[in-house]
Amino acid sequence: MADRREQILDGLKAFLRIPSISTLSEHGADVRRAAEFVRDALAEARLRHVDLIEGGGNPLVYGEWLEAPGRPTLLLYGHYDVQPPDPLEEWHSPPFEPTVRNDSLYARGASDDKGQTWILIQAVAGLLARDGRLPVNVRFLIEGEEEVGGKHIAAYVSTYPERLRADAAVICDTEMFAPELPTICTGLRGIVYGELFVTGARQDLHSGVYGGVAPNPIQAIAEILCALKDRDGRIHIPGFHEKIRPPSAKELEAWRRLPFDEAEYLEKEIGSRELVGEPGYSVFERLWARPTLEVHGIRGGFTGEGAKTVIPARAVAKVSLRLVADQSPEEASRQIAEAVREACPRGVVAEWRTIHSGAPSLIDPDNPFVQAAARAMEEVFGRPTVYIRSGGSIPIVGVFAERLGIPSVLMGFGLPDDQIHAPNEKFYLPNLYRGIEAVERFLSTL
Ligand code: BES
Ligand code: MN
Ligand code: MN
Repeated sequence: MADRREQILDGLKAFLRIPSISTLSEHGADVRRAAEFVRDALAEARLRHVDLIEGGGNPLVYGEWLEAPGRPTLLLYGHYDVQPPDPLEEWHSPPFEPTVRNDSLYARGASDDKGQTWILIQAVAGLLARDGRLPVNVRFLIEGEEEVGGKHIAAYVSTYPERLRADAAVICDTEMFAPELPTICTGLRGIVYGELFVTGARQDLHSGVYGGVAPNPIQAIAEILCALKDRDGRIHIPGFHEKIRPPSAKELEAWRRLPFDEAEYLEKEIGSRELVGEPGYSVFERLWARPTLEVHGIRGGFTGEGAKTVIPARAVAKVSLRLVADQSPEEASRQIAEAVREACPRGVVAEWRTIHSGAPSLIDPDNPFVQAAARAMEEVFGRPTVYIRSGGSIPIVGVFAERLGIPSVLMGFGLPDDQIHAPNEKFYLPNLYRGIEAVERFLSTL
């Protein structure tokens, strides 16, 4: 592969120059360009039936190579959309001008998920170029709405499961536990993302003239949030915890053996005074095996310079729940809507509206595809593979399990300090090449 490195890197840089930010409508044309870029890369890799799949929303990109009868079929998934780059002033080089510094490639999407999608594409391209064939059958399905919880891919998978028939999915969109430590992710949290709308008086009111009798929607939002999650991080939504499946003793024991220094994690990764969360649960349980409720933003009232004495007529909070197996997003949506109504103080009306949701997933580490991936990574990194879960969400994993009946092999090559979704996102370049090598080995030794 050494001879291909420059070409692989140049290709990834070209991919990263396209600002395919799925949440900003003004980038619609860029999102489409990124889809076309992936399509062209799959065609260049000499996959068959390469095409964009249009179905409203951002196109899916499909390509297949099915000429290994009797061999397993893998569904290779990634996403070409990225998060917005703001705050721009914090980037050391512009987010859509990929730049190499200290062995890392800096750009929005470098790790999540263009760099990692590139691993899958280049592994297959490399094998096809070298041998003119693949040791297994593959179908690529690359989407452009992952970062916005878009439903089009789930609709497509559910409508045409026979077009995606496979034995397992392979996804490079997660992190390694530590640099040099090959890692397979065996669990992801689900999500329910929504908005809490609160309305009070007919219009904004003078806070001196009316304060004391007029209800305040921002105060109401604070009260509702505190009723839903207490100071210890315990969630109080009736019925919410009923279906939680606790991790097995074996899994908890494996987590205890992970190389982890809580003080160092606090200082280097979090950078706050202390860690918070539910008492009685370890950091990994709180991150990977317990649900959470987070508020992402509150809009309302006066936030400009200086002072203005006003009681706002309305306010909105953006809130998400992270779910763990076997919680259901539909059920959790209903439960939080009901809990919001219950917690609503006098004088205001509070309403919950879910924006998007995705199911949690658990993957059996003893699955033979997972085991083969773990061995391939072990050979490339020269160290035993560790199994962890992640607190993040990749909603399609649950859809693949439910609609196609297949497990997902989550072999990620990101690092904990890749700053995904944040300024100065990067991908450690040795992991780009080792990732390609590991996927090539994985496909070759199945
Ligand atoms: N790749 C991430 C999820 C992830 C990150 C998994 C790190 C494991 C380790 C993915 O692109 C992502 O950001 N997902 C969103 C979900 C979505 C529905 C908005 C998330 O987790 O917030
Ligand atoms: Mn991702
Ligand atoms: Mn992401």
